[in-house]
Amino acid sequence: MTRKRCYLRFATLLAGLLSAAACLDFGFYDRMCPAAETIVQQTVADAFRNNSGVAPALIRLHFHDCFVRGCDGSVLIDSTTNPNNTAEKDAPPNNPSLRFFDVIDRAKAAVEAQCPGVVSCADILAFAARDSVVLSGGLGYQLPAGRRDGRISRDTDALNDLPPPFFNATQLADSFASKNLTVEDLVVLSGAHTIGVSHCSSFAGVPDNPADRLYNFSSPEKIDPALSKAYAFLLKSICPSNSSQFFPTTTTLMDLITPDKLDNKYYVGLTNNLGLFISDAALLTNATMKALVDSFVRSEATWKAKFARSMLKMGQIGVLTGTQGEIRRNCRVVNPAPRTAAGVHRVVAGSDSSGFTGVAAS
Ligand code: HEM
Ligand SMILES: *[C@@H]1O[C@H](CO)[C@@H](O)[C@H](O)[C@H]1NC(C)=O
Ligand SMILES: *[C@@H]1O[C@H](CO)[C@@H](O)[C@H](O)[C@H]1NC(C)=O
Ligand SMILES: *[C@@H]1O[C@H](CO)[C@@H](O)[C@H](O)[C@H]1NC(C)=O
Ligand SMILES: *[C@@H]1O[C@H](CO)[C@@H](O)[C@H](O)[C@H]1NC(C)=O
Ligand SMILES: *[C@@H]1O[C@H](CO)[C@@H](O)[C@H](O)[C@H]1NC(C)=O
Ligand SMILES: *[C@@H]1O[C@H](CO)[C@@H](O)[C@H](O)[C@H]1NC(C)=O
Ligand SMILES: *[C@@H]1O[C@H](CO)[C@@H](O)[C@H](O)[C@H]1NC(C)=O
Repeated sequence: MTRKRCYLRFATLLAGLLSAAACLDFGFYDRMCPAAETIVQQTVADAFRNNSGVAPALIRLHFHDCFVRGCDGSVLIDSTTNPNNTAEKDAPPNNPSLRFFDVIDRAKAAVEAQCPGVVSCADILAFAARDSVVLSGGLGYQLPAGRRDGRISRDTDALNDLPPPFFNATQLADSFASKNLTVEDLVVLSGAHTIGVSHCSSFAGVPDNPADRLYNFSSPEKIDPALSKAYAFLLKSICPSNSSQFFPTTTTLMDLITPDKLDNKYYVGLTNNLGLFISDAALLTNATMKALVDSFVRSEATWKAKFARSMLKMGQIGVLTGTQGEIRRNCRVVNPAPRTAAGVHRVVAGSDSSGFTGVAAS
């Protein structure tokens, strides 16, 4: 018995009824692959024991999947040369910062060994992100499933749909609204920056980087006045401005207080001007957002409950269900193009003669 949930439906009842295809089911794999969630959980837990950076990595992977063409596993697809396609994962917001794709590969291989061709990469990623939340101290949540995998992954979509770290409050709210997420979801989900790391280029870097908070402001020290001076000097020591000394692989913790605990310390830091990105500090510039930040400083329990709810909601964005998309066999590669009744490969722009393509439509 499965229960259907369509969280994005209550916008309007009519729109909801018309978009019934976007419904996911609790217990979707109960009959076809009952061990799926357990297998994913064990794979993620094993990887997390080895390196706690796995949790922030998988939570961000899920976010970057859902914001670009919906939660369809498109962020997992590799770029291809024939056809010549640069995939989402190789767009600047994703490369080199997304990491631990291999954990998803291992989870998929383990699930395929039990029940081949049943569990989508998009669901595996959604489960893995939820498991990462729990492993780092967040609240667990039941996750409806049945997401199907997309067949399209383009770097330009990632560039257009992912909010960059220099966005202001209005731009952030607009970006989230375009995914049917509220200002509250924005403030709640930004709390994911309580774990994980950032590269220098997301907050420092060579002149002209609009994300730069350390070297390019008009104030005497050239530091963003919204950033703690002491923190700015620490960051300058980690990320020197001189581009030839600039290590593209250097990273720094995003929450100095409790770097790998999914707690409310992000908000505590934020209200002390320790938010790392312009987009973090932006949450203090809008009264509605600031009130939410303050409420999460006061109550960690409130934030944790809301975080679980917003993650669940984010996990429903633009999902493919039913007969849409496919169940990818290898999360990095779209399945061979479907054959027509005549056994002829569907012709897709850019596909090679084998019909294999990274950019095929439906
Ligand atoms: C509100 C808009 C957001 C912006 C502008 C933003 C931007 C960024 C940037 C620039 C990084 C650092 C990447 C790097 O340089 O290595 C980052 C890291 C991270 N973000 Fe966000 N983010 C946003 C929202 C979110 C959301 C909604 C989530 C998840 C719910 C999230 C989860 C994370 C995590 C966990 C990391 C650390 C990744 C790791 O350690 O591998 N972010 N974010
Ligand atoms: C554990 O981490 C080490 C170093 O970070 C890595 O070489 C190794 O492959 C990892 N093992 C697993 C099972 O993830
Ligand atoms: C693939 O496309 C990129 C960008 O459009 C181009 O720079 C590159 O030369 C192309 N490579 C091949 C092998 O066609
Ligand atoms: C945010 O940025 C947009 C685009 O640059 C600008 O039009 C708007 O005035 C900014 N809003 C705030 C509150 O700074
Ligand atoms: C805060 O941002 C939201 C979303 O952009 C906007 O509707 C609201 O007017 C802003 N509030 C204030 C006080 O600026
Ligand atoms: C947002 O909701 C509207 C109305 O229900 C729907 O048409 C649209 O596809 C949704 N957008 C996303 C990204 O889910
Ligand atoms: C950064 O430098 C560029 C080029 O000098 C300038 O156009 C831009 O306004 C500067 N940004 C800030 C925040 O000072
Ligand atoms: C950056 O540092 C290198 C090596 O120390 C030096 O040769 C170069 O002139 C410096 N460049 C700038 C723009 O300061």
